Amino acid sequence: MFAHIARKVQLCALPSLICIETGEQYKNIDTCSYIWRQLLAAGADRQTLLLNLGGGVVGDMGGFAAATYQRGIGFIHLPTTLLAQIDAAIGGKLAIDFDGLKNMVGLFRQPEAIFADPFFLATLPTRQLRSGYAEMLKHALIADPEQFAVLDPDTLPRTEAHTWGQDPREVAAISRAAAIKMAVVRDDPQEKGRRKILNFGHTIGHALESWSLVRQPNDPLLHGEAIAAGMIAELYLSQQVAGFPTAQFNRVATRLRSLFPQQMIKTACQAAFNGDDLFWHALGKDKKNVGNSYRFVLLRQIGSPIWDIEINQQDIKKALAICREWASN
Ligand SMILES: NC(=O)c1ccc[n+]([C@@H]2O[C@H](COP(=O)([O-])OP(=O)(O)OC[C@H]3O[C@@H](n4cnc5c(N)ncnc54)[C@H](O)[C@@H]3O)[C@@H](O)[C@H]2O)c1
Repeated sequence: MFAHIARKVQLCALPSLICIETGEQYKNIDTCSYIWRQLLAAGADRQTLLLNLGGGVVGDMGGFAAATYQRGIGFIHLPTTLLAQIDAAIGGKLAIDFDGLKNMVGLFRQPEAIFADPFFLATLPTRQLRSGYAEMLKHALIADPEQFAVLDPDTLPRTEAHTWGQDPREVAAISRAAAIKMAVVRDDPQEKGRRKILNFGHTIGHALESWSLVRQPNDPLLHGEAIAAGMIAELYLSQQVAGFPTAQFNRVATRLRSLFPQQMIKTACQAAFNGDDLFWHALGKDKKNVGNSYRFVLLRQIGSPIWDIEINQQDIKKALAICREWASN
């Protein structure tokens, strides 16, 4: 995808284009250096505005490049994937991956504006739509039982032929998902407390994603796919530790099963369960951890999250086994 530079005062005059390779494997310091070099070559200065047109990778990395270039220039997000429209573009978290670990280097900085249009989703492959759908479902699980009910029957990204994001119910669900995220980050912009609930499914999910990026480099799990697996594992922990109702767990598990690549998830969970160092190293580096303990966001009910819950390695392994079993059925 590409980022786009224009002077604030001459928005339409001679914008410069920066194109980058697509994929999470390019969200790294090398691509970032390339963006900085292109900015330099184009004569970008403190008045320059960087327009990040693309998915979450372009937003996270374009924002990071802008926020660090000459100690920070302005940037606008123009998110073109479902995941970026309802999640990644909102909240001011900017980052690149480093040494095989997700979002290891980054900072908080708000964009000047975000413009999201479901029109872009018409060309988005179904696998990418489903990846975004996982985050939509997460927003509903952590904050909004009504949105969960809406997402249940009406708005699944069903088949390749289903042009998603055009139906008014789908557009309403996108707006609601974005509003949930905005409300959470407005209350806690620096993630000191409640904002941590957005990490539900991400403790195990990010570690599975980091594992997959290294072990399955040609066809890694997408972000939302890893988060879907992480949500299954963390809903199981929620059931065990926080009394999350079994009937709700089964409902979510059934809904997610047909949408995500079961074999890839099964392989990742199996490797993690067997003790693959890559997974456990990534899990140990999760930003929510304190010292040597693993900290999780869990749910008591749909819409009722708790955070900073310590879980031991043995219980994490049980959760991985449940996720593997879920992916095997
Ligand atoms: N900053 C945050 O708060 C936050 C939150 C969630 C996720 N993220 C990050 O977002 C990233 C994932 O974002 P993503 O799922 O958008 O993936 P992505 O940016 O890799 O985009 C997915 C693919 O879709 C293509 N694409 C983009 N728009 C398209 C369109 N309209 N039509 C056809 N193809 C299109 C891209 O070229 C890419 O191949 C991860 O790096 C994740 O860590 C950040």
